[in-house]
Amino acid sequence: MPDLAYVNGKIMPIEKAVVPIEDRGYQFGDGVYEFIASYEGHLFMLEEHLDRLERSMRELAFDPISRADIRKAVLNLFNRSGYQRAGIYIQISRGVAPRNHAITPGMTPQIIMTIRPVKEMPETLRKNGATAITVEDTRWCRCDIKTVQLLANSLAKQKSLDAGCDDAIFVSSQGIVREGTSSNLFIVSGGRLVTHPLTNNILPGITRMVVLDISRDAGLDVEETFFGTDALYGADEVFLTGTVTELLPIVRIDGKSIGDGKVGQTTRRLYDLLRKQALAGGAA
Ligand code: PDD
Repeated sequence: MPDLAYVNGKIMPIEKAVVPIEDRGYQFGDGVYEFIASYEGHLFMLEEHLDRLERSMRELAFDPISRADIRKAVLNLFNRSGYQRAGIYIQISRGVAPRNHAITPGMTPQIIMTIRPVKEMPETLRKNGATAITVEDTRWCRCDIKTVQLLANSLAKQKSLDAGCDDAIFVSSQGIVREGTSSNLFIVSGGRLVTHPLTNNILPGITRMVVLDISRDAGLDVEETFFGTDALYGADEVFLTGTVTELLPIVRIDGKSIGDGKVGQTTRRLYDLLRKQALAGGAA
């Protein structure tokens, strides 16, 4: 089975899929997206991803689309693919109209999807931990909306690769540690788990939410609060969370070792709990 694409109701091989050049997603970044992964033939946290997709569209005042229709289209594409461990990318743009900053009334939102096997993180990264650099967060002020405007994220990721690292961590001009380029960030300090609170400056990650629940259930002390780079460098453990990232240890940031420079016990424990939950199909 080839990797598939869905374009406004039609399914086809990815290389056959095209969109109109005056799609506002293409010209203005006027689109929202989700990325959902499956484990052993079931989509993990599908409803939570649909919740966030609906919220993104609402925040940008898109003409509404039926959630039931989106769910049906996602499940249909997933079933057609036959993949057990797939990544489904869903993108909805406001619509197609002659280029104009002002929004043309009455546009029909455009839905495209792609499905491919998940590109797994290298095992060595999971085992030994990843490295990161910090970069100034130059993104817009609505990072809580999952829009396709990912240029700052993309440039920061590339900068980290060019520096011989694996990812970049966004830090505000005031020194507040926010999130990764496609993941949320947690630190473990003195037995306590800390992550940036949900504000307009980070994405409300689904994996973040699952990890917070798992951690509380495991009896860990959890705090959603602001922290700076001193707390980041001085943490016992640091990890990223995301749909593809799952829960990835970071052992070196800006050339400084985190803790003893090895993957920590809490990170390992939470990764195992997250995997268990994902393989079990969702809520614990
Ligand atoms: N990215 N923060 C940012 C900036 C992200 O782009 C993502 C996800 C996350 C984690 O969210 P979640 O746990 O819901 O995947 C946090 C996706 C995977 C992407 O861009 O492909």
